[in-house]
Amino acid sequence: MTNQTTTKPLFETFTSDKLNLPNRTVMAPMTRGFSPGNVPDEEVAAYYRRRAENEVGLIITEGTGIDHPASVSGANIPVFHGEKALNGWADVVKEVHEAGGKIAPQLWHVGMTRSKGDLPNEEAQPVGPSGLSLDGEKVNEPLSTEEVEALVESYAKAAADAKRIGFDAIEIHGAHGYLIDQFFWGNTNKRTDRYGGDFVKRTQFAVEIVEACRREVGEDFPIIFRFSQWKMNDFQAKLVNNPDELERFLQPLVEAGVDIFHCSTRRFWEPEFEGSDLNLAGWTKKLSGKPVISVGSVGLDGVFTDFSGAGTASLDGLVDKLDRDEFDLVAIGRSLLMDPAWVKKVHEGRVDDLLAFNKEALQKLY
Ligand SMILES: Cc1cc2nc3c(=O)[nH]c(=O)nc-3n(C[C@H](O)[C@H](O)[C@H](O)COP(=O)(O)O)c2cc1C
Repeated sequence: MTNQTTTKPLFETFTSDKLNLPNRTVMAPMTRGFSPGNVPDEEVAAYYRRRAENEVGLIITEGTGIDHPASVSGANIPVFHGEKALNGWADVVKEVHEAGGKIAPQLWHVGMTRSKGDLPNEEAQPVGPSGLSLDGEKVNEPLSTEEVEALVESYAKAAADAKRIGFDAIEIHGAHGYLIDQFFWGNTNKRTDRYGGDFVKRTQFAVEIVEACRREVGEDFPIIFRFSQWKMNDFQAKLVNNPDELERFLQPLVEAGVDIFHCSTRRFWEPEFEGSDLNLAGWTKKLSGKPVISVGSVGLDGVFTDFSGAGTASLDGLVDKLDRDEFDLVAIGRSLLMDPAWVKKVHEGRVDDLLAFNKEALQKLY
């Protein structure tokens, strides 16, 4: 495992137009299901505070549901609307800020991955661009154009609330096969209105969301956008097949006002396209000109979606890529679930003290 000297690039400050951070580490958004009645409580606030106390540069919260009856699945998944939940989030922000940290909520709608009858609103039907599940099965009717426009406004309202209650940025969850990604992906978006068409036209829903959020938060507030090629049901799925397509996919999102792209991959070291070592984040930085966050099995020898556990792994490859400016920031997921002090330990060179990820980390707010 790496020593203190070689992890230096991870602990250089990050400066950008709208967001400055003390180092390059980001806590990856991770759904926990510890918010009773969909309201984050003091234990959730303390959980995030522990990461802030231990030098995490930017915390991105677990996905939190925008104001729509079918935005989340489950009674303990936090939402981002209504007085109780927003007060809970305001306490989370307060704790993190008191500990000197920065935090962004991840704004989320699960779309067609919701099962009929799921809590908290058992009667709410799953919604999606064409009423298709990720496997392409017809579940219900496509959203009407007006319903899509109303969803755009729900994201905007969440963005306004995030700024009002003191968050430092927002992250829009456009990855992994959830609602926004269902618009991106040809398998789930067969629409013929302005929200459908080729892979560039299918960015329209996300573009309108980013524009509407920007309208609410103003020019100076950072908007992070997370996207992925892979989907929860298909790790080989592709939105784009080559750098040219990636550029055409990113361009409308850049013009809409994205400040930072969070490029979700399951293994950060894998090249995205043939003929170059660059990963998805590396290509996105090169083609969009925007700062990027990379992610995927940092410090671990097993990949996300295998929840059984993973040992620790060297950070050398990661640090090399960071040092070469392939990406700007590094999100850490499972390592930080198990070990709130992961970043601080790495900074201090205490790599033998790092706790490996095991599935118990999912049962408790360490
Ligand atoms: C328990 C758990 C919950 C997750 N929930 C979310 C989520 O709410 N939103 C999201 O974008 N990604 C989510 N992810 C994916 C992580 O953000 C991250 O991309 C993934 O775990 C890979 O990073 P890692 O290998 O460092 O764990 C989750 C991952 C885990 C392990």
